[in-house]
Amino acid sequence: MRGCEAEAVAMAMCAVLIGLAQLQTHVLAQTRSRARAQRPTILESGISLLFREALASLQEPIDQPVVLPEYDFIVVGAGTAGCVVTSRLTEVPNWKVLLLEAGSEENFVMDIPIVANFLQFSNANWDYRTVPSNTSCLGMENRQCRYPRGKVMGGSSVLNYMIYTRGNRRDYDNWRDMGNPGWGWDDVLPYFKKSEDMQDKQLARDTKYHKTGGYLAVSIPEFRTPLAKAFVDAGRESGEPVRDFNGEKQTGFSYIQSTTKNGTRWSSSRAFLHPVRNRRNLHVKKRALVTRILIHPENKTAYGVEYRHNGVTYRVRATREVILSAGAINSPQLLMLSGVGPKKHLTQVGIPVLQNLKVGYNLMDHVCKGGLTFVVNDTVSLRTDHILEQRDYYVDYLAYKMGPLAVPGGCEALAFYDFANPDDDDGYPDMELLFQSGSIVSETTLRRNFGIADDIYDAVFKPIEKADTWMVLPMLMRPKSKGRIMLKSANPTDKPLIFPNYFAHQEDLDLIVKGIKKTIELNELAPFKKFNSKLHDIPIPGCKHLKFGSDEYWGCATRYFSFTIYHQSGTCKMGPVSDKTAVVDPRLRVMGIKGLRVIDASIMPEIPAAHTNAPTYMIGEKGSDMIKEDWGERTQPL
Ligand SMILES: Cc1cc2nc3c(=O)[nH]c(=O)nc-3n(C[C@H](O)[C@H](O)[C@H](O)COP(=O)(O)OP(=O)(O)OC[C@H]3O[C@@H](n4cnc5c(N)ncnc54)[C@H](O)[C@@H]3O)c2cc1C
Ligand SMILES: *[C@@H]1O[C@H](CO)[C@@H](O)[C@H](O)[C@H]1NC(C)=O
Ligand SMILES: *[C@@H]1O[C@H](CO)[C@@H](O)[C@H](O)[C@H]1NC(C)=O
Ligand SMILES: *[C@@H]1O[C@H](CO)[C@@H](O)[C@H](O)[C@H]1NC(C)=O
Ligand SMILES: *[C@@H]1O[C@H](CO)[C@@H](O)[C@H](O)[C@H]1NC(C)=O
Repeated sequence: MRGCEAEAVAMAMCAVLIGLAQLQTHVLAQTRSRARAQRPTILESGISLLFREALASLQEPIDQPVVLPEYDFIVVGAGTAGCVVTSRLTEVPNWKVLLLEAGSEENFVMDIPIVANFLQFSNANWDYRTVPSNTSCLGMENRQCRYPRGKVMGGSSVLNYMIYTRGNRRDYDNWRDMGNPGWGWDDVLPYFKKSEDMQDKQLARDTKYHKTGGYLAVSIPEFRTPLAKAFVDAGRESGEPVRDFNGEKQTGFSYIQSTTKNGTRWSSSRAFLHPVRNRRNLHVKKRALVTRILIHPENKTAYGVEYRHNGVTYRVRATREVILSAGAINSPQLLMLSGVGPKKHLTQVGIPVLQNLKVGYNLMDHVCKGGLTFVVNDTVSLRTDHILEQRDYYVDYLAYKMGPLAVPGGCEALAFYDFANPDDDDGYPDMELLFQSGSIVSETTLRRNFGIADDIYDAVFKPIEKADTWMVLPMLMRPKSKGRIMLKSANPTDKPLIFPNYFAHQEDLDLIVKGIKKTIELNELAPFKKFNSKLHDIPIPGCKHLKFGSDEYWGCATRYFSFTIYHQSGTCKMGPVSDKTAVVDPRLRVMGIKGLRVIDASIMPEIPAAHTNAPTYMIGEKGSDMIKEDWGERTQPL
């Protein structure tokens, strides 16, 4: 990674370009010796890759040169949900749709799975921070956790680790039972499948749970480190099943399923917009920051939006609806900027109140304990810096789309546990153990991804910097503690205030401690013993007063290394009209405002036991059908 210094540069680009440059120096030697004549040369495969990828980039919808004064629908945000909604609405030929996105084009470097960590240092990231806390994020610079969010065509589906999990049937049955008809598991499963293009032949045969032919490719990455195998084997040895977590039952161990196709990230833009880029009723405006939803105060009807592009403010009208798909941080921010939100708070920041609603409350995430590290005596882990210096890996990737460059951000396997009912074979997960064959010390970027304070890093991790390591992130699936998003001011370019409120409930912390202890048990089993795997036991300075390994120690350590898994959700909660904490009704219409819906991760009333990307695709699909139904258009049979 030499030569990549400033955080400001797109580090992903830098890493890959340096790698490619290193390769090129070997190309001549290689072509001369022809020692590996059976494989394509790096130059050959590099050129063909660039050619192919250049073509692929051209398939992103163009930036609309002239935005019309008026559209049927305006969609705000080209993230996971916004791309689905835009794609589905433009299926109706006489509906004109404008998609506004604050970020720029997606490029092919972003789509190389292993570079996921680097993208957070590019301008494709909103780069938020939580408000300094005394109860979590204690090991981070200024006691603030970093909250990256995608600001690019494809939104957070371009920054994410591509893990594809849907959650448990009880998650959605619970949504339905909270007063949201149409959101039970039997209702939503067809929408998960509607998007899906399962690449794995064996899983595709299970047609009750999987489908081929949808827009969204889902694969099982081929490359596996020996340590990932050890993790899954340890699970098996401990008596847990190994199964498809997107099938009938969820608890157990598995290699991950990822939103990739042939070793390439399948973002929401690539999946849902590229194939429909030529639709004449689709306009996309990039680098367009929406600052406000325009709402008539007399009859509380949304009629358009205001946005900034190149320093100029524009207004554009929507004759049917405005759809907010700006994600769980920006959708509540935009509602509040437009006068829809908690009366007291809006008054404090000087925004006239149009509709008093609990916008920004109910913030949820899957927080985990970071830094749980195990040292092995063998060079079997994935170290991104090493990988990016190995020319053979580039050949594997460029020519065959295989090898470690195709591993989604280094994540390889996971386990779901129901600690409340450990003997239930069909459990409802309250804990996930996410396995990575690498750790904070082996990833040049990870410590900065999470913003770990230098003094703490140096004390705890510096001594094992050269070691090969693996880690598990024990992740709370159904948090009781809920946080909140607030405005800093009425200025739309001020970043919102984020209060995660992690571990306000002791039960949340206790569950994570159980997850830590379970991981340590797994490490004691034969599959890890083979690698002489040892728990890294240098204590965190701020927890030194507690006995290392005690529940109290792990609780303290968790408050220091509270890592987000980036599943922010719930801030525009869906609920029945009788629910005073709900922001949108079960058809995703903002309560009390006409012509305005929210369709993205912020509508989740409770966070599912899933990485939130797949559920957000489902919300996009279902929301699109509801719009069509409400305007009397035909929907495709499911
Ligand atoms: C680093 C990271 C890793 C993750 N890993 C995984 C994973 O492995 N698996 C998984 O399932 N989930 C993962 N997630 C979570 C998942 O990606 C998100 O839950 C999902 O993408 C949310 O979709 P969304 O449509 O709600 O919002 P987003 O995808 O964030 O889309 C919001 C869009 O709106 C745009 N926008 C916001 N404000 C404005 C404005 N004012 N004007 C114009 N445009 C605006 C944004 O730029 C963005 O493009 C990860 C997320 C991150 C950030
Ligand atoms: C956190 O602790 C510091 C120092 O002990 C104190 O000054 C500050 O007010 C506390 N903040 C909160 C939010 O409790
Ligand atoms: C709402 O009020 C505005 C301004 O008076 C008017 O132009 C618009 O037609 C009204 N919309 C509806 C749906 O009544
Ligand atoms: C995957 O990509 C490689 C390299 O570009 C190509 O040769 C191969 O045909 C692709 N495989 C599929 C199934 O598309
Ligand atoms: C790692 O440790 C195991 C168990 O002690 C031993 O069998 C193996 O040879 C060691 N490997 C290396 C590279 O030292």
